[in-house]
Amino acid sequence: MPGLELRSVSKRFGPLTAVEAVNLDLPAGKFISFLGPSGCGKTTLLRLIAGLETPSSGQVVLEDRDITALPTHQRNIGMVFQSLALFPHLNVWNNITYGLRIRGMPQADRRRRAGELLEMVRLPGVEERDIKQLSGGQRQRVAIARALALEPTLFLLDEPLSALDAKLREEMQVELRMLQERLGITTIIVTHDQREAMTMSDLVVVMSTAEVQQVGPPLEIYRSPATAFVADFIGSSNLLDAQCVDPSTVRIGESEFSVPSVPEGARSGDALTLTIRPEDVHVLPSGDTASNRLPGRVSFVRDVGASVELFLRCGELELISISAPKDRPEARPGDDVMVELPAESCVVVRR
Ligand SMILES: Nc1ncnc2c1ncn2[C@@H]1O[C@H](COP(=O)(O)OP(=O)(O)OP(=O)(O)O)[C@@H](O)[C@H]1O
Ligand SMILES: [Mg+2]
Repeated sequence: MPGLELRSVSKRFGPLTAVEAVNLDLPAGKFISFLGPSGCGKTTLLRLIAGLETPSSGQVVLEDRDITALPTHQRNIGMVFQSLALFPHLNVWNNITYGLRIRGMPQADRRRRAGELLEMVRLPGVEERDIKQLSGGQRQRVAIARALALEPTLFLLDEPLSALDAKLREEMQVELRMLQERLGITTIIVTHDQREAMTMSDLVVVMSTAEVQQVGPPLEIYRSPATAFVADFIGSSNLLDAQCVDPSTVRIGESEFSVPSVPEGARSGDALTLTIRPEDVHVLPSGDTASNRLPGRVSFVRDVGASVELFLRCGELELISISAPKDRPEARPGDDVMVELPAESCVVVRR
C-alpha cells in the first residue's frame, strides 16, 4: 500500500535552511520516528507533512496523491503536539469530539464515540471530567483520543511524551506502540530520545542539521550506521580516524585492521572513520598478540553495577570498552592490556 512520500522537500526561513532536499518513502501502516538533535528540523518536517508549513520546493505525496497545496483540514491528519493544546473550557468528551461536532455529528453519537475512544486509550469513565482534573498522563491519552477521533490516514506526534516523568513515559511508549499496531495507522513521532525511537518504531529516520542521514529499522541503524554522525548519535560508539588500504583493510596509526567492508567507492589512502560499539571492544591480557589487536593501557574504570566501563589509551587513540559484570576483565587503572577490535564488529564509514 502506498504511504507517504516526500520528494526533494526543502524549507527555508529567510536565510536559514531548516529542511534541505529531503527524500523519504514511508510505507503505510508503519510506526516511524524522526530522530535527531535539537534544531535539526524534525518539527519543521512534521509541519510540512501536516500542511502547517508550505515547502519552499518539493512535493508531499500521500497515498499517491500530491497534497503539497492541500490545506491541513483536508489532509485527514490527526496531530498531537508537545503542548497537547486541549481546550481548557471543555470537558473530556467535548474535547475528544470537538472535530466531530464541527462535522455535524449528533450529540448522542458523539457521546458514544467518546466512550469508545476513551476505552481505546485505556481511560474509561472520565467523560464528564474537566481537563484540569486530569494528570499529565491522562491528558496525554485525551489528546491521543482526540487526534484519533476523525480516523485519520496519518497520525503525527511531536514530542508528545516529553512532559511526562521517565516511568510514565516508558509506559506510554509501549501503549502508543500497541495502539498503533491495533489500528494499523501510519504514525510519525518526532523525538530526540533515541531510546524512545528504538522502543516504538518500525523505521527510524535519523536527521542531522536539515538533512536525513539514514532511514532504517532500529537495529539496522544501530548495527550498521551509514555515517559517523549516526554511529555517534545512536547509542555510543568509538570513532577512530582510519585510512583505506584495500576493500577489507584500514590503517589506524601504524596498525592495519581487517574490516568487513569499506564504503563503496573508497580508494586506497582515503580518509575514513572506523566505528565500533563499546560492548564489542574486548580487553585481553598484555602480550596476547594477534591481528586486529593493539597494545594499550587502562586509564580509568567506571563500575556502575549493571556494567563495567574501561577507558583505554592506545598510543594516540582513546577507546571505551563496556562489559557485563560477569565478563569483567581483570584490569585496573595503569594496567597494560591488549585491546581487540574484532573485524566483524567494525563498521567503516566516510569521515
Ligand atoms: N517559523 C520559523 N521561522 C524561522 N526559523 C524557524 C522557524 N521554525 C523553525 N525555525 C528554525 O529551523 C530550524 C529547525 O527547527 P525545528 O523546530 O524544525 O527543529 P527541531 O528538530 O524540531 O528541534 P527541537 O528538538 O529543539 O524541537 C531551527 O534552526 C529553527 O530555529
Ligand atoms: Mg521540535
